[in-house]
Amino acid sequence: MEAVTVVGAGVIGLSWARLFGEAGWEVRISDPRPDLADVVDRELAGVPVTLAVDLASAADGTDFVQESGPERIEIKEQMFATLAAHTRDDVVLASSSSSLLPSDIAAGNPADHRIVIGHPFNPPELMPLVEVVPGPATSASTVDRAVEVYRKLDKLPIRLKKEIPGFVGNRLQKVFNEQATYLVQQGVIDVTDLDDLVRASLGLRWATVGPFQSGALGGGPAGFRHLTEHVASQMTFEIGRPDPSRMGEVFEAVEEAYGLGQSAYEKLAALRDGRTRAVLEPLGWPPPPSADDQET
Ligand SMILES: NC(=O)c1ccc[n+]([C@@H]2O[C@H](COP(=O)([O-])OP(=O)(O)OC[C@H]3O[C@@H](n4cnc5c(N)ncnc54)[C@H](O)[C@@H]3O)[C@@H](O)[C@H]2O)c1
Repeated sequence: MEAVTVVGAGVIGLSWARLFGEAGWEVRISDPRPDLADVVDRELAGVPVTLAVDLASAADGTDFVQESGPERIEIKEQMFATLAAHTRDDVVLASSSSSLLPSDIAAGNPADHRIVIGHPFNPPELMPLVEVVPGPATSASTVDRAVEVYRKLDKLPIRLKKEIPGFVGNRLQKVFNEQATYLVQQGVIDVTDLDDLVRASLGLRWATVGPFQSGALGGGPAGFRHLTEHVASQMTFEIGRPDPSRMGEVFEAVEEAYGLGQSAYEKLAALRDGRTRAVLEPLGWPPPPSADDQET
C-alpha cells in the first residue's frame, strides 16, 4: 500500500486525507494543532490514518506529499525544507497553495526539482480539478508523477505550461469575485440574489460548457468571432473595483445571509456537497479512464 503524507489538517488537508484514504492509500497527517486527535476522530472516522505532530516523522518513508498548511511563504519554505530532508529522491512534494509561485516555495531548496503545485478546488474530495503548476526547476518526471497520482484519485489534473501567481482558476475567480463585491457595495444587488443569479446562469452554463465553448455558441453558427464583434463590442463600460475600506458591510451581509460558526458551516457544506454529488456523474465526472491508465 502506498503512503501519502498530508501536511495540515485544516479545511483542505482533511478533505485530501479522506480522498487518499478512500482510494486505498495509507494516510499520515501532520499538524501542530493541539486538537489534532479530536479533529481526526471526528472528520476522518474509518480512514486508515496515522497522526504526527512532527513533520519529519510523517515524511519518513512516504511515497507522496500533499502539503496543505498555511498560505504563508515563510511557513511553506520551512515545511518544504523539512520535507526535502526526510523524503526519498523520487518522492513528489506537492503544495495545495492557492496562489504562491512554486519557484518561491522551492527557492534554495535542494529538492526544487521535486516541488510542484497541485492546487485543488475546495473540497478536493469532490471537485474534479487539480491545477498542476511546475516552477522552472520542477522536473518533467515530477509533473508526470503528480498527474498520474491525481488521475488515479479520479481527479482531472490540468498542467499549466508555466507558473503565474494565482495560476488560472484563482485569477479568474479573483476578477469575478471582485466584481460581485463591487456590485453589492454599489447597492445594485444583494448577496443572496447575486448568488441565485450566478447559479441560474453562469454557474450552470460553465458546469456544462467552458467560457470559450459558450462563446462559440453565443455567436450562433458564425461563432465566437461574431459574438465578440457584435454583442461583446458594445460592452465598453468600465467595470469598477470594490472599495477595500467598505469590506465590513459586505462581510456583514454575507454573515447575515448564511450565518457563521461551526453549525452554519456544517449545514452549508452539506448543502454544497449534496448538490455537487448530484451533478458530478451526469456531467461526466469522474472522466472515463484514459488509454494511459488502462495500460498500467
Ligand atoms: N480553503 C480553500 O478554499 C483552499 C482551496 C484550495 C487550496 N487551498 C490552499 O490549501 C492550503 C490550506 O488551506 P486551508 O484553507 O485548509 O487552511 P486552514 O487554515 O484551514 O488549515 C491550515 C492548517 O495548517 C496547520 N499548520 C500550521 N502550521 C503547520 C505546520 N508547520 N505543519 C503542518 N501544518 C501546519 C494549521 O494548524 C491548520 O490546521 C493553503 O495553502 C491554501 O492556499 C485552500
